Amino acid sequence: MGTRINSFEEYLQEYKRSVDDPESFWGRQAESYTWTKKWDRVLGWDFVKPDVKWFSGGKLNITENCLDRHLSARASQQALIWEPNNPAEKGRSLTYRELYEEVCRFANVLRNNGAKKGDRICIYMPMVPELAIAVLACARIGAIHSVVFAGFASGSLSSRIDDAQCSMVITADGGYRGAKEIALKAIVDDALAKCVSVKRVIVYKRTGSPVQMAEGRDTWWHDEAAKADTRNTAEVMDAEDMLFILYTSGSTGKPKGVVHTCGGYMVYADYTFRNVFQYNEGDVFWCTADVGWVTGHSYLVYGPLLAGATTLMFEGIPTWPDAGRFWQVIDKYKVNIFYTAPTAIRSLEAMGPDFVKPYRLDSLRVLGTVGEPINEEAWQWYHENIGKGKCPIVDTWWQTETGGIMISPLAGITPLKPGFATLPLPGVQPALLDENGKELEGNGVEGRLCMKFPWPGIIRTTYGDHERCRAAYFDTYKGYYFTGDGCRRDEDGYYRITGRVDDVIKVSGHLLGTAEIENALNQHADIVESAVVGFPHPIKGSGIYAFVILEHERKDEEALKKEALETVNKIMGPFARPDKIQVVRGLPKTRSGKIMRRILRKIAGGDASNLGDTSTLLDPAVVEDIKAEAQ
Ligand code: WT7
Repeated sequence: MGTRINSFEEYLQEYKRSVDDPESFWGRQAESYTWTKKWDRVLGWDFVKPDVKWFSGGKLNITENCLDRHLSARASQQALIWEPNNPAEKGRSLTYRELYEEVCRFANVLRNNGAKKGDRICIYMPMVPELAIAVLACARIGAIHSVVFAGFASGSLSSRIDDAQCSMVITADGGYRGAKEIALKAIVDDALAKCVSVKRVIVYKRTGSPVQMAEGRDTWWHDEAAKADTRNTAEVMDAEDMLFILYTSGSTGKPKGVVHTCGGYMVYADYTFRNVFQYNEGDVFWCTADVGWVTGHSYLVYGPLLAGATTLMFEGIPTWPDAGRFWQVIDKYKVNIFYTAPTAIRSLEAMGPDFVKPYRLDSLRVLGTVGEPINEEAWQWYHENIGKGKCPIVDTWWQTETGGIMISPLAGITPLKPGFATLPLPGVQPALLDENGKELEGNGVEGRLCMKFPWPGIIRTTYGDHERCRAAYFDTYKGYYFTGDGCRRDEDGYYRITGRVDDVIKVSGHLLGTAEIENALNQHADIVESAVVGFPHPIKGSGIYAFVILEHERKDEEALKKEALETVNKIMGPFARPDKIQVVRGLPKTRSGKIMRRILRKIAGGDASNLGDTSTLLDPAVVEDIKAEAQ
């Protein structure tokens, strides 16, 4: 197993080494894995094209490192613990040997169904162990997985399947989330009406609710598994072969298929997992994120398994049957490291302390947060009520595109400051740039967060459209990777993320493109144009505020709003539904036709008293109308 930093002094030394000689630093980290063939060159890079290659010439399979490599020392250790949605249902767990066998078996199922190296396979599943098994089985045969969060509706699902030209979909009859049952297979059927690339659908039976099975296309997981062997030889992959695609929202309406590759992602997911959380042998690690997001990829599946940890997967939601569910699960499995989102903390804090009290949380050693800035009040509540004042909180900043954690404390090692992601991990070289692209030196500065040197987990391309990757991340500031975040480096050199500076918003930790929501709203027959902005929301971080222009006046505006919500729900999914919809006569546009979102953001945030410079507006009266009716 790889090494772990043990003191702040060591962190400083390791950081320095990683900057002075990145190749020998990462080369040393990569030594501890099973490689079929060692790499020829640690790093080759060019941030203009962009073209980044880690461990070129190296051959490996990541699942051999997640599973086979552990069989000699930890075959009977629990690899995955699963807690169902309903506490009355029995949980499950798989040892490293069992998980290895199930992954091999399902890898054979995939091959028996015609899948091969390089194929794209969409996984649209509830949070059951078979979701992790499907992910790993794809990686085992060299198929590129594209997991789509099972909260997405059919419109988002079909566009993702189509963009990657997936040949197969792995799904379930349905899934449970709190008191709700979601008919996943029916959503897949709907999505596939528009996707011709899909030849096979494998359906895991979770709820037992009736589904339609398309003859010649659909087949049951259990029928296929019964025919398959548990021995499977892993496909030999090049370090730079694609491992997975994961879609993320961007400034335009179309999501981007972020591509990660085998070697660098593996080294980075594992290195960051062990060091940030200060993982100890035998720890039970619980990341509450869904595998449909990058956090679930890196810190529920790959990172913990690479490290030989016990990873916990929870099918349900934090507030069902009541707001004590998370704390009950921690108590039940004696969780040592707990990793969740600020939005969950804020919503549970709002429920009051009584839901925490019944449970023993003294197994906890480390707490973590991810996905959005954590406000000081939520930080303190988490620290006192959950960590009982003795667990460090790692506020981990990273992105789908970075593959793993980039700026974060090392638990128990880095001195903490609430609201700060603190310091860059070894190998991470942040830079703050001003609006003119000038790098801000020294401390006590605020600017746009960029990276000036590659790390092994960096995005390689956006699937099928390399130009988009270049334009989105490498074009704004020449020679830098641009994150899209604003950031402050304080007097101590500590980093504080201030939020997005582009047209995406963070709603309950989910990244949503405002253009994507606008496109969905515009599908409503009566809506001709819309503009969506975020506004500060006490629980969700950002709420969604939609301004819509109607084709003709509607007397029943409330009914119209309900229909508009349902339209977004059907196309994108429930989490993209606006919190507020305001019908307007016009939008504040410049003479060249550009919507002045800055003005809308101010109005949505309830701060319309000072709108700044409005001299370029085509029709200033529009703004007065909007202000008068703002919610
Ligand atoms: C964006 C990336 C990282 C995995 C989950 C989200 C925001 C993320 C933090 C943090 C403040 C954060 C940024 C970033 N973000 N972590 N600790 N503090 N902001 O991945 O959906 O790709 O979103 O999430 O704005 O750019 P993602």
